[in-house]
Amino acid sequence: MDNKKIIVAIDGYSSSGKSTMARELAKRVGYVYVDSGAMYRAVTLFALRNNLINPDKTVKVAELISRLPEIHISFRSAGEDGVQHTLLNGEDVEKEIRDMQVSNMVSPVAVIPEVRSRLVAMQQEYGEEKGIVMDGRDIGTTVFPNAELKIFVCASPEERARRRLREMIQKGEKVTYDEVYRNVVERDRIDTTREVSPLRKASDAIELDNGEMTPVQQMDWLIEKFQNVTAE
Ligand code: CDP
Repeated sequence: MDNKKIIVAIDGYSSSGKSTMARELAKRVGYVYVDSGAMYRAVTLFALRNNLINPDKTVKVAELISRLPEIHISFRSAGEDGVQHTLLNGEDVEKEIRDMQVSNMVSPVAVIPEVRSRLVAMQQEYGEEKGIVMDGRDIGTTVFPNAELKIFVCASPEERARRRLREMIQKGEKVTYDEVYRNVVERDRIDTTREVSPLRKASDAIELDNGEMTPVQQMDWLIEKFQNVTAE
């Protein structure tokens, strides 16, 4: 069947399971997957490594902006672990960008309009040929306002913190539920209240509350929505 190629935008709160859904959908339908959050995380890692964060955890905004041209982000397609890896100036930083230090600074970095416009331009380039699934906070509202399928994912902060804690512990990180919960809630706050492209549901997005859903149910739900649009 030669269905039309579309853009799928999956937005939602932190740790809502967007990335897992987006990655799995892309794999099943043979689309490219782009994790836009990984790009904000890579910029944050660059800032941490280059002394662009003050001791009081504020960002040295002007300095970071002046160094943006030095930051090159790319992806290496999924290898044996089945996960796409993020590269910062050619270095595989997939593990580092997921740690708590980066998680704690990423939302303050992501409020900076210059950071956003640079990353949004890159994201839009990825979508030029369609056939892409991208997840993030502003994909359906700013990056691809014309995406054919938009999903907005939510679940309670407690449920999201539990899921993220499980994931981090599996990866061998030493974190507590309280630490993860506080990070989830704080990122929600910053992401929803920032001036440029705050996290919000696009008016034409379909809402998915996956708090009570198993991963299989969630995928079935998403595949059905995808098929409805591509078969039109
Ligand atoms: O995986 P998780 O939901 O924890 O977050 P993420 O998708 O890796 O995104 C990390 C952070 O990057 C978010 O909390 C936002 O502050 C920022 N972000 C954004 O501002 N816009 C996007 N399109 C994606 C992420």
